[in-house]
Amino acid sequence: MTEQPYTHVPVLADEVVGLLATEKKGTYVDATLGMGGHTARLLDALPAEADVLGIDWDPEMAGVAADKLKRFGSRVRIVQGNFANIDEITAREGIRSLSGALFDLGISSLHFDKPSRGFSLKHDGPLDMRINPDNPLTAYTIINQWPYEQIEHLIRVCGERRSGRIAKAVLEARRAKPLETTAELAALISRVAPARGAWSGAAQFGGQKIHPATKTFLALRVAVNYEFDNLTRGIQKVMPLLKPGARLGIITFHSLEDRIVKETFRLMAKMGGWELVTRKPVAPGEAEVAANKRSRSAKLRVIEKL
Ligand SMILES: C[S@@+](CC[C@H](N)C(=O)[O-])C[C@H]1O[C@@H](n2cnc3c(N)ncnc32)[C@H](O)[C@@H]1O
Repeated sequence: MTEQPYTHVPVLADEVVGLLATEKKGTYVDATLGMGGHTARLLDALPAEADVLGIDWDPEMAGVAADKLKRFGSRVRIVQGNFANIDEITAREGIRSLSGALFDLGISSLHFDKPSRGFSLKHDGPLDMRINPDNPLTAYTIINQWPYEQIEHLIRVCGERRSGRIAKAVLEARRAKPLETTAELAALISRVAPARGAWSGAAQFGGQKIHPATKTFLALRVAVNYEFDNLTRGIQKVMPLLKPGARLGIITFHSLEDRIVKETFRLMAKMGGWELVTRKPVAPGEAEVAANKRSRSAKLRVIEKL
């Protein structure tokens, strides 16, 4: 049964519609359908001749979106799958070209708010963090089975300056007993790398200072879901599908994935056949950030096929 209390406010929705909905008919792809917020906004803005193929890797999310987008009938098709395989997914759906594509990266509010998914620092849950629960790798496996060097490297590349201290503490703790929950891991990190100095002046996290385990949790999620690899493959696979004049928009939420998008888009423009629509990323205004804290780190970059 799908649980309904979860909501997700689509970020930069006006900007997405304004920059991506360039053709009045044809098929658009929402590669990260989530609860369908952006898809609904696109379909509302476009005439009945336009439709959307919505993809989400999480089977639970695909179910929630189906419910939320019922009113659009056959204008929306929903497929559960990894956007890294967007070429195979579109081929199976009989779609040969696209009028536009959106990737709104990361996870949805449902993932953060549902303790059993194990993504959240705010709620205790199992060390899971899989977007697609059929995947074999979990945060539990990384934390309890990976060697010191791999854990240290993973969290360091995701920006954690105290990676050595944290990895050492994880190895010591798991010698006594496996670390089972997000609360256990968060408490361990708070103990060995408390929020002093390194986090001074840090961004807000749910009204408080950023939690000292934030970067470790992000690193685990990125690794569990092969997020950088999926992003690179997703961009490569969607490029040949876009029609001339069609646009690809990508919303990122942290600097590592934004760097991948920025560098890939620059390279595409340099190679020829593509033009940057946004030279600088589009960020939410003050009003959006005030209304939806999750939007504060969002950046939208758009490129057009010539
Ligand atoms: C930020 S949310 C999207 C929210 C959506 N735009 C909305 O308005 O509701 C990102 C979504 O992408 C999905 N996702 C993450 N990685 C994916 C992948 N590799 N392939 C397909 N979906 C993915 C997540 O399950 C999540 O639902």
